[in-house]
Amino acid sequence: MKRDLVSVLDMEKDFEDFIMDGIELKKRFKRGEMNFSLTGKTLAMIFEKPSTRTRVSFETAMTQLGGHAIYLSPRDMQMGRGETVADTARVLSGMVDGIMYRAFDNKNVKELARHATVSVINGLDDIEHPTQIVADFMTVFEHKGKFKGLKMAYIGDGNNTCNSLMLGAALLGVDFYAATPKGFEPMKDFVRKAREIAKRNGSQVIITNDPKEGAKDADIIYTDVWISMGQEKEGDEKEKKFKAFQINKELVSKAKKNYIFMHCLPAHRGLEVTDEVADSKNSVIFDEAENRLHAEKIILLKTIAGF
Ligand code: CP
Ligand code: NVA
Repeated sequence: MKRDLVSVLDMEKDFEDFIMDGIELKKRFKRGEMNFSLTGKTLAMIFEKPSTRTRVSFETAMTQLGGHAIYLSPRDMQMGRGETVADTARVLSGMVDGIMYRAFDNKNVKELARHATVSVINGLDDIEHPTQIVADFMTVFEHKGKFKGLKMAYIGDGNNTCNSLMLGAALLGVDFYAATPKGFEPMKDFVRKAREIAKRNGSQVIITNDPKEGAKDADIIYTDVWISMGQEKEGDEKEKKFKAFQINKELVSKAKKNYIFMHCLPAHRGLEVTDEVADSKNSVIFDEAENRLHAEKIILLKTIAGF
């Protein structure tokens, strides 16, 4: 049976394996041990929105695993002229071995997965960003050496990245705080589900509107852009509400001395984070970005190759 990765919850039973196997695969790659398990395999990558990391990491991962990736934009596809998502899924399934889809609407990712007979991987939509979260927790483990007992504070917009990060933290037993302005909290259904999982793992999920409560004694401070792709019209009005949630020197002074700063990137420097923090010795943002490559490899192996 094919394995899809539409939500972090599709990794509910083996999320820690994704992280640990991803780290092991990275170590082997750094030692020069190649893995060509996807020789002859092709990944179709549909991008309705721009991307630097997701595109380059998936394409490079396919190459390094012996396979090939095709970049598809709805601008150049028949999907952009009205061919249905379901028909696209059926057609691509006859030619390729997996489909990565970055979409505006989560419903379309689910629809594609429902009709595709090959694995579908969510490369970000309006409510989740699951592949990012694999790279993020690989980075956390590399820097902190554990999950249980850590406090992760996501400070900013309760968006797609926040929803997925919260689920990932709950699965690993990391205490998760989301500090957002009122009205920008992560989605209620995700909070409910994350709390249910966290309870089983002896951790907690706290939602607050106080950035200082989030930052206090945090081991990890994480943020993302205030305006996600597709929300551009919310612009200036939204930015005003987020001023107190900027990750700056004063806010991080509340965290533990050896805290790490994370951001899925791209960063809008001077808005959600200052240069001073993004370029500080506590910042691991570029390790995190590099880990996208290694995370995509383990994701491709566990979905397409069924590892
Ligand atoms: N973090 C992330 O998904 O970056 P891209 O938008 O560049 O793919
Ligand atoms: N929340 C951001 C993440 C970008 C990788 C967005 O959706 O634009």
